[in-house]
Formats: sequence, structure tokens, C-alpha cells
Amino acid sequence: MIVRAEIVPGSRLRGEAKVPGDKSIAHRWLILAATAVGRSELRNMTSALDVRSTAECLDALDVSNVELGQETVVEGTGRRGLREPGGTLNCGNSGTTMRLLSGVLAAAPFRATLVGDESLMKRPMERVAEPLRQMGARIETADGYPPVNITGGDLTGITYRPDVPSAQVKGAVLLAGEAAAGETTVVESVKTRDHTERALGALGAPIRHENGSITISTFDHAGFEGTLPGDVSGAAFLIGAAALTGSSLRIADTGLNPSRTHFLDVLKRMGVRVDRHLLRETVGEPAGDLEIAETSGLKGVTVGPEEFPLLVDDIVMIAVMAAFADGESRVDGLGELRVKESDRLAGLVDGIRGLGGRASNEGDSLIVAGGGLKGGTADARGDHRLAMAFVIGALAAQGTSQVEGVEYAEITFPGFVESLARLGAKVEVR
Ligand code: S3P
Repeated sequence: MIVRAEIVPGSRLRGEAKVPGDKSIAHRWLILAATAVGRSELRNMTSALDVRSTAECLDALDVSNVELGQETVVEGTGRRGLREPGGTLNCGNSGTTMRLLSGVLAAAPFRATLVGDESLMKRPMERVAEPLRQMGARIETADGYPPVNITGGDLTGITYRPDVPSAQVKGAVLLAGEAAAGETTVVESVKTRDHTERALGALGAPIRHENGSITISTFDHAGFEGTLPGDVSGAAFLIGAAALTGSSLRIADTGLNPSRTHFLDVLKRMGVRVDRHLLRETVGEPAGDLEIAETSGLKGVTVGPEEFPLLVDDIVMIAVMAAFADGESRVDGLGELRVKESDRLAGLVDGIRGLGGRASNEGDSLIVAGGGLKGGTADARGDHRLAMAFVIGALAAQGTSQVEGVEYAEITFPGFVESLARLGAKVEVR
């Protein structure tokens, strides 16, 4: 059932916010815990639906005790402890689950089939299948798309230069590399989020960084303990809400990994000040508080294609904020946005127009006119980030708005609507 949110603009936010544990890191820590020898304890675990998909797949591979809770305990018996699943592995909506697990299954001596929901079944998988094949796994895709059939086995290290900058592809190759004979190197043309290599490094794996390349050699890691930092890409939406409503806001305990915070630099160019207070580091991940100063007036911005790999999930919020700037904004190099959970480029153009703003695309570029949104109706197209960005945009529109499909926010940010309501925003779900 599609759930519609009704948003009444005009409220300022107040109080202190907290976001759920980071989804990207959660996938990786769960997979590393499941392939560790020994017990792991992961705190501040998120209940995001995507992360549930990873946990359920790990359960189906016979990892005992992947019971997601605030404190998740995993009893790992090593990579060799994984067992052939009884049926297909359902990755739900989660591309990260499908791609990272492909890396693990490439080294597992049995056959497994990865499937997903309607959206995931349309997402490209050769980008991950190709390097894993080169390492020695047998992998078939359906013309490049799921289902992904993997028969794993003994792997040999390779040097791989991904065509598309992707943390999921890098992560899959490095996870396979931990099990492969010899050295495995990923050479990145542009840096992407580095959670896999940070976690492996913190667990003692032999990882080397040399200008733009990451090399891992064979390693068996032990169980570990860690507290997930809050999801900084979830915080991006609350920052957007604060900036658009002219509110100051503190967000407690989010990840501050520089490979995830480039959006703060773009927001600075737009006139939004966010201070970072680094407080701790956990399993190689820096974390701390964010403090958003009251914003008065947003400036239009130009974002170049070289910035995209570091803005990949946050560009959606930036685009909607641009609709409120005092001039036009332009974002180039958004081809990859078309193969996310939905065609986010088309979805953004439609959604901004639906909410009474002006936006268009020229090829892979997005052009957003400033001046504000009048209010109206936007469709999330089954995409969690579009759902959240449209709700936030609607908070600052002139009139009341509706966002169709707000329930998809749960895929990444459990309790998104409730969090906004607690801060004083008028969002009602019908
Ligand atoms: C992710 C990587 C990004 C991002 C996704 C999460 C990850 O995808 O969009 O939400 O956790 O590795 P790509 O690797 O396709 O850029």
C-alpha cells in the first residue's frame, strides 16, 4: 500500500536530533562479523530494511544468531562456516547487499542465487560480476541484471580498475581479495566511500594504500566490537530541513568519515554552515556531533562531475535545496543516478516540478531554478531518498504538499517521519 504524507510548511525545528546507525557501515560490519572467526558485538545497529536484507541473507547462509537489535551479536565461524542456502538469497531493495555478498560468495565453495525486489532486479550487476570472474568465481547474470548465480571457489588476486567509481564494487573485490591467493588491488580513478578498507584495516588485515590504489592480501579476521556511528547521509536530510526552515540544530553522534561528508562542503558553498565536532573513532570510523547554524538565504551552486562519487547519495537533498536558492543551480555528471533504486535524475525533475518548482535535465546534467517551491504533490517512485528529500522540500514550500510513497524512507532511515515530527515539523502520514 502506498502511504501518503501531508506536509504543512511553516514550522521551525527545535531540539536535538539523532539519526539511526549508518547503513553503509552496517552492511559491512555485519558481513565481516559473519565471516569472522569468533564472536562480534555491534552496537547502535540500524533496523533499516536494507540492513535487514543483509542479515536475512547471512542467516540463510547459516551464520548463527544474526538477530538484528540495537546490540547485535554474531557468532562467526569464519568464511568456511558459510553453508549453501536452501533457496535464493533475497536482497530486497538493497544493491549494497547484492554486490557486497557477491564478493563473499565468490570464495564460497557452493552455488548461490541472489535476487531482489522489482527495483533491484533492474540494476546492473556485471560491474561486480566481471572482476569476481577474473578472480576465478563462476558467475552468471541475466544479460547483466539479477538474478546473479555464483559458484564460488579458490580465488586468485587481481589488479582491477573499475570503469564506474563504486564503493560497492570496490568493497566486493576487497572482500573477495581477503580470501584470494596473493594480492588483490583496486585502483580507483576517483575516490569513493572507504568503509570496507577502514574496517578491514582496523581488524588487522594487511591493507596497503598507494595513491589511489588499495591492496589487500589473504587474511582471516577475528570477531570484533564496535558502535556504529549515526548515518551521516540520513543526517543530510535533517540538515536540509534545518537549513530550509531557518533553524539551528544539533545532530548527535554521526559518522564523520571524510569520504561521506563532501556534501557539507557543497552546502557551505550554498551558504549553510555546519560545524563538525569529532568525538570518537570506532573500527576505523570517525564520529561526532554536527551543529547546523541558522541559515538565511541559500545561494545557487554548480557541482562538477568529479564531485559525484563523493556525493552519490546526498545529491538528492542538495538538488531539492537548490530549488530554494536565489539563483540557478547546475549539477553535471549524474548518469549513475539513473541506475539507483529508481531513475533518480528523472524522479528529481518530476518531483521538484510536482512540488511547484522548476527543474530540467540536459543529458546527465540537472538544472534547478531557485526561488522556492509553491507546494504540490511529488511521487517517491519507490525510492527512499527521493521520498525524504521531497518531504523536506515540502517543509519550506508556500503551501501544503503531499508526498506519495513516504513509507520507503524506512528502507534507510527507520522512523524518519517520527524524527521530523519530534523536531516540530508538521508531517502527517495517511
Ligand atoms: C554504497 C555505495 C553507493 C551508494 C549506496 C551505498 C555502499 O553506491 O549509492 O547507497 O554502501 O557501498 P555505488 O557503489 O553504486 O556508487
